[in-house]
Amino acid sequence: MPNFDALQKALRAHPQRWLITGCAGFIGSNLLETLLKLDQTVVGLDNLSTGFQRNLDEVRSLVTASQWRRFTFLHGDIRDPGMCRQAVAGVDKVLHQAALGSVPRSIADPVATSDANINGFLHMLVAARDAQVTSFVYAASSSTYGDHPGLPKVEERIGKPLSPYALTKYVNELYADVFFRCYGLRTVGLRYFNVFGKRQDPNGAYAAVIPTWIAAMMAGRQVQIHGDGSTSRDFCYVDNAVQANLLAAMVPVEAGSAVYNVAVNEATTLNQLFASLKTILTAHGVSAIMDPLHTAFRTGDVRHSQADVSKAMRELGYAPAYRIDAGLEAAVPWYRKHLGNPALGAGAVDSRLSGAVDNEVVSAVAGELVSTAVDEVAGAVGCDVTSTVASTGTSANVMTSAGVNHAHVR
Ligand SMILES: NC(=O)c1ccc[n+]([C@@H]2O[C@H](COP(=O)([O-])OP(=O)(O)OC[C@H]3O[C@@H](n4cnc5c(N)ncnc54)[C@H](O)[C@@H]3O)[C@@H](O)[C@H]2O)c1
Repeated sequence: MPNFDALQKALRAHPQRWLITGCAGFIGSNLLETLLKLDQTVVGLDNLSTGFQRNLDEVRSLVTASQWRRFTFLHGDIRDPGMCRQAVAGVDKVLHQAALGSVPRSIADPVATSDANINGFLHMLVAARDAQVTSFVYAASSSTYGDHPGLPKVEERIGKPLSPYALTKYVNELYADVFFRCYGLRTVGLRYFNVFGKRQDPNGAYAAVIPTWIAAMMAGRQVQIHGDGSTSRDFCYVDNAVQANLLAAMVPVEAGSAVYNVAVNEATTLNQLFASLKTILTAHGVSAIMDPLHTAFRTGDVRHSQADVSKAMRELGYAPAYRIDAGLEAAVPWYRKHLGNPALGAGAVDSRLSGAVDNEVVSAVAGELVSTAVDEVAGAVGCDVTSTVASTGTSANVMTSAGVNHAHVR
């Protein structure tokens, strides 16, 4: 099994042609940066719906002029089959990241999420099949574990999807498998758990907990924790996800179609996360960090999520290089540098948000936002979201409430 260093050397020696969909987003732009630094040829496709030109501009500033010339950006949509065909023409490897993320967004607008995440995904699969790419790696999600209570999460044991978003990500896995069986397209799904790092957007209704908290702490605002702070997640620094993508694209997977957890196999509680961020930010000169406000546990919040990553380690040679504190150390300077930028300014972050504990499953929002927004969501989907979520044991309601409320003002 090649380790990641050996793989990078091999890529430099024998550059490949890659397509990254969602290249202007958080994970996509980190993939782009790594591949260009490895002198690869990259096509990027993005409709800039949740991604940003500024992410591409930043990557440009971090690579050499000749590396940047190996990048072609297509401003387009995966829901357009012609655009997918154009993007994949002449490509060896696809890293498919483009999707509408977030559980609450999907509850607010399941059609839009399904359109991008299922129809768009299918167009990409068809285009990749017809272009005879050698591998198709795609962003799957820990939300696929749904209501399965087992810990740590093992790839083969999933529950029922608990949101339209989770359903779309599971359908991706089913489609990918069928495309291998019917057409021989080699596919690898990477079930990301709580990825964080530079260029993750701290703004907006669907912002994740780490960038939201960093922004709030830097602005001298109080963050809020639902419950006693013992809720835990397997936070995964983005470089680990980048490593998993490159390995998945290059290591022949025996089964031809497979899914892997991408995380660290380490549970971090919200209290621990707060303490780590406080220590790191203080070391970076951020003062006046207020103690968090603890509010009630939310009905239905998933209390613990942790990945078993042994399958990726065994079959791909995945070896996560960053544990959470090292990842936070790497990410904080980026936020220190960029939150002064009006385009990304901390001032834009709603102080009442405590951030999504999990982009995929859970969030935490304080105050009056919640009750009004839950009502809106319940109306929007024709059911009582709070009780539905409570009975199925997930936490989509909290994120949902934040998401819908803010979706109206975005
Ligand atoms: N960040 C996480 O913790 C996490 C966890 C699990 C899964 N994922 C998945 O990983 C992928 C990347 O997530 P991210 O956190 O970088 O999100 P992101 O929103 O930053 O990136 C998604 C990118 O896809 C683009 N996009 C969306 N719809 C598109 C369309 N129809 N056509 C073309 N481009 C489109 C967006 O503009 C954006 O640049 C997504 O598929 C997401 O569902 C992320």
